[in-house]
Amino acid sequence: MKKSTSLLLLLALFTSLLMSCNQKQTSGEDQQMKTFIDDLMGKMTLDEKLGQLNLPASGDIITGAGSNNNIAAKIKEGKVGGLFNIKSAQKIHDVQQIAVEQSRLKIPLIFGMDVIHGYQTVFPIPLGMSCSWDMALIEKSARIAAQEASADGICWTFSPMVDIARDPRWGRVSEGSGEDTYLGSQIARAMVKGYQGDDLRKNNTILSCVKHFALYGAAEAGRDYNTTDMSRIRMYNEYLPPYKAALDAGAGSIMASFNEIDGVPATANKWLLTDLLRKEWKFKGFVVTDYTGISEMTDHGLGNLKTVSALALHAGTDMDMVADGFLGTLKESLKEGKVSQQEIDQACRRILEAKYQLGLFEDPYRYCDVNRAKSEVFTPENRQAAREIAAQTFVLLKNDNQVLPIQDKKTIALIGPLADNRENMPGTWSVAGDFAKSISLLDGLETAVGANTNVLYAKGTNIVSDPQLDARVSIFGKPTKWDSRSQKEMIDEAVEVAGKSDIIIAAMGESAEMSGEAASRSDINIPENQKELLEALLATGKPVVMVLFTGRPLTISWEKANIPAILNVWFAGTEAGNAIADVLLGKVNPSGKLSATFPQNVGQIPLYYNHKNTGRPLQDGKWFSKFRSNYLDVSNDPLFPFGFGLSYTTFDYKNLKLSDSSVTVNGLLKVSVEVTNSGNYDGAEVVQLYLRDLVGSVTRPVKELKGFQKIFLKKGETRTVEFTLTEKDLRFYNGDLKFVSEPGDFKVFVGTSSVNTLEAGFVLK
Ligand code: BGC
Repeated sequence: MKKSTSLLLLLALFTSLLMSCNQKQTSGEDQQMKTFIDDLMGKMTLDEKLGQLNLPASGDIITGAGSNNNIAAKIKEGKVGGLFNIKSAQKIHDVQQIAVEQSRLKIPLIFGMDVIHGYQTVFPIPLGMSCSWDMALIEKSARIAAQEASADGICWTFSPMVDIARDPRWGRVSEGSGEDTYLGSQIARAMVKGYQGDDLRKNNTILSCVKHFALYGAAEAGRDYNTTDMSRIRMYNEYLPPYKAALDAGAGSIMASFNEIDGVPATANKWLLTDLLRKEWKFKGFVVTDYTGISEMTDHGLGNLKTVSALALHAGTDMDMVADGFLGTLKESLKEGKVSQQEIDQACRRILEAKYQLGLFEDPYRYCDVNRAKSEVFTPENRQAAREIAAQTFVLLKNDNQVLPIQDKKTIALIGPLADNRENMPGTWSVAGDFAKSISLLDGLETAVGANTNVLYAKGTNIVSDPQLDARVSIFGKPTKWDSRSQKEMIDEAVEVAGKSDIIIAAMGESAEMSGEAASRSDINIPENQKELLEALLATGKPVVMVLFTGRPLTISWEKANIPAILNVWFAGTEAGNAIADVLLGKVNPSGKLSATFPQNVGQIPLYYNHKNTGRPLQDGKWFSKFRSNYLDVSNDPLFPFGFGLSYTTFDYKNLKLSDSSVTVNGLLKVSVEVTNSGNYDGAEVVQLYLRDLVGSVTRPVKELKGFQKIFLKKGETRTVEFTLTEKDLRFYNGDLKFVSEPGDFKVFVGTSSVNTLEAGFVLK
């Protein structure tokens, strides 16, 4: 035997020994946990077991329609398993004390919160984060969020939200990672790793809860909570993978969604919560409902609270958020034989296991260190990280004549209803944020410009012109700051200010709460009054840059046609204004790429890049042909495609090469391309790889993202970027829902967006 071979064998032996030791250790730990929980459950009454399944709202932060009283009394009686959305280590400590000192069995509570994009240091909304295409940064943002939240008493977050969404009318597109399965799955993994770290017992890691399982983003007509109806093959190929990716990364809990699937709400859907989740995916953690998910099934038409609670438990739900259905009715259902003791025990065990894994039995106050709360939350370092991360999420949609970055300008007119609004910077679902401490664009720009530059400000118009709509989108401590002057008065003032300037920055778009939960819109244009202001600003003849605040893709066709530069900044969090100033002034070169298609108009929705070809696709170069799949009045093209985003520099792609013209089932195919920074600035580029399976047993998308790399190139630098493909990358769920690849012809595309690519072909043998 050669020396190197024997060395390899030794190494393999050592590795397998190590692995079996690890397994023994894990199974030893599992055994310890089992013994502990068996013992505890042996002492628990039925009421106490049901108490563990109960998750009432704390009432501290109202996130839904429920209300609750007498929480403390219930905790003492052992009738509460956890609470959520309470803010502060001290308060949580005090509530925990009731549980562990005044209840019979002293079982600690689990404390959850919607830590969605940061805790008190707020990062950009998730849709924005996804446009960074930077997994390390996304993981870092979740790590910081976990660090801050755990320092302030929280050990469980209702995040990541991984619902694929292809309808920008749906307000909750803002909370997810856009339209793509592959990108969404990578992000799901990064977030779970960030929250949970490598050891849940550490006091700075928190349990993650992936949501909303499942298909919540496919609500009909983009109306929140609406019906979903989808084929299994689409579910498996397009909508389910991100949930699975989060669970494979170790997410310890999952939230059932509000919507129905195959006519049964997710909360009571046995196929979803047991057959798929437990049997097929082998998930071991616990399932929590969404807010009043159980009682809402009465309105879905499934029966009274007792009936729907039994259905939910039977389907595989473990914890009842706010509905009071499990605590209030399962005892009776057990007597009547509608649910079994074993089902109750199993749910209770899963919740106790999560508490055990978090180390709460060892130390129930592990996450309530008031000193940590003082020193680890909203720190200058975290804010600096938020500033750097935010700048990576902005997408430069247009930049004619290099209006940006702003250079050598003496006077900048900053105009618009979102220029001086700190409270709206964090965006939706930022419950722990201290909104007034956010940096507005006016704050950021004034600090960033040098002594020789003047920033003049005018509001110009309100966010929307209808006061009733304004009241609906001016909530949760994020006022729009309605100005009661007339539109004409405000525009006149803005035009006067613009007249004194060299360049106009127009801070426009949506308020933070125009997206998010129950914030669907049927018209996703910029409000008409803001457009009027833009027209007036353009008429001044000064260069106009639109800084676009939005929680969703918007139909900004007119703006694209008329405004020379558009920088989409989403809602960028605590440090929004500083980060935007960094990009506007050229300190940071924008590199974000869209994770969701911008449609030309609402009629095109749903519009997404990885659609099927149909039997009558539109032929290249045409936008309309009779008897083809198209519209009479608008082309099929998006306004801005998936993967698109400009930079202050330019990138050229050439020499797309494959290592072979074919690949075997066990082989590797290397795909390489040369990317050159051909412009005048250093900058980052997201190199994207897409595949098309040309012939299949079922129809396949015209293109699917299968890889990307974010690279940084100095001005003039060229780099060869290489991807490795294997047969695994070519797999999909076939008509029998088997995950397979099929031999035949494939196309590979590599480029700067989903439409601007080089292409080559290969065969899978
Ligand atoms: C939302 C969830 C959230 C929950 C708790 C619900 O209304 O759908 O995403 O985690 O409230 O606040």
